[in-house]
This record gives sequence, C-alpha cells and structure tokens, in this order.
Amino acid sequence: MRLALFASGNGSNVQAIIQAVEAQQLDAEIGCIVCDEPEAYVIERARQANIPVVILAPQWFKERGMWEAAILRHLEAYHIEWIALAGFMRIVGETLLTAYPQRIINIHPALLPNFPGRHGIEEAYRAGVKQTGVTVHYVDGGIDTGEIIAQEVLAIHPDWTIAELETAIHQIEHRLYPQVIQKLSTLN
Ligand code: GRF
Repeated sequence: MRLALFASGNGSNVQAIIQAVEAQQLDAEIGCIVCDEPEAYVIERARQANIPVVILAPQWFKERGMWEAAILRHLEAYHIEWIALAGFMRIVGETLLTAYPQRIINIHPALLPNFPGRHGIEEAYRAGVKQTGVTVHYVDGGIDTGEIIAQEVLAIHPDWTIAELETAIHQIEHRLYPQVIQKLSTLN
C-alpha cells in the first residue's frame, strides 16, 4: 500500500502513522506528504522522517481545479494508491475523488454523524454529551459525511477540561488511525 498523507497543521497523526510504519506495525509505504500550508509544522516532521513533501497552497492557482490537478500529478509521480487525510483543512474535490474512488479516508475527532466540521472536540465538550470519540471514514464530496469505517467511543469524565478531552481524543486517534489503515491494506 503506497500512501499519501494530507495535512495542514501540527501533524501529530502523520507522526503516529510514520512511527507505526517504522515500528512495522503498519505495512505501508508513505510515498509523500501533501500540505496546503507552507508554514505548517507537519513539513518539519516529514523532513525529519525523510519523506518527500509536496507543498501546494490553493491560492497559488487561478482555480481550485488547477490546484487539485497539480496535486494529482504529484500523487501519480509518487505512485500513490491511497490517501489518508490527517488534519487536512480543505474539502477534497471531484478531481481527486474520481482518481481515488473509495481510496481516500479521513480521521475525525468526534462520533460522526455528530459534530462534523472543524470543531468536533470543542462542540462535543460544550454540548455536554456524556460520550464522544473518534471516527475514521471514507471521504466523499461533503464535510465528514462519507461512509464510516471505524469508530471508538470515549466517555467524557465530568471533571475534564477541554484540554484533557483533547488529549484523550488525540491518544485514541494516534492508535486507531494506523490500525485502521493496516486493516484496509490487508483487504486490498
Ligand atoms: C485531528 O484531531 C484530526 O482528527 C482532525 O484534525 C486534527 C489534526 O491534528 N481532522 P494533527 O495535525 O494530526 O495533530
């Protein structure tokens, strides 16, 4: 399984996947990391792991479609078979969805269909729900709407601050995402 990881920010999930590959818990090759934010810390993580980084911001292109087409050319050059979004803050459009049907996945820090969008952790916390969790799902044209692959539930301790909830969510993500990718790699 040749994988591209798409990220926009810190990249702790990218790091977890890199470590799972290095520890031979995940039988995949990370062909490249695609980043849309030139200042993102994930770029440093990729460089330290010696993984090629493709940095392409949509605002550098006349149209969004041209940005996606440029990404696709890089993915083809790196012979990418699967795409895992890991904190990628853009909607994936037709060009990539058509090129990678049922081959693009995302991780979301809530129990979809609850709390989709950018603030899944915060919204669950403020809603006062007793449990939340993490979802891995296929990507379609919507925001966090694709078919669910795996979910893990987390009970929210009544005394937790939002920071404590965030930490607990990220711990689950860092374990769950490599596991799910490993499972998908054995199915295909
Ligand atoms: C994660 O919580 C992920 O679920 C969400 O964005 C966050 C990215 O964090 N989609 P990081 O960049 O992997 O640290």
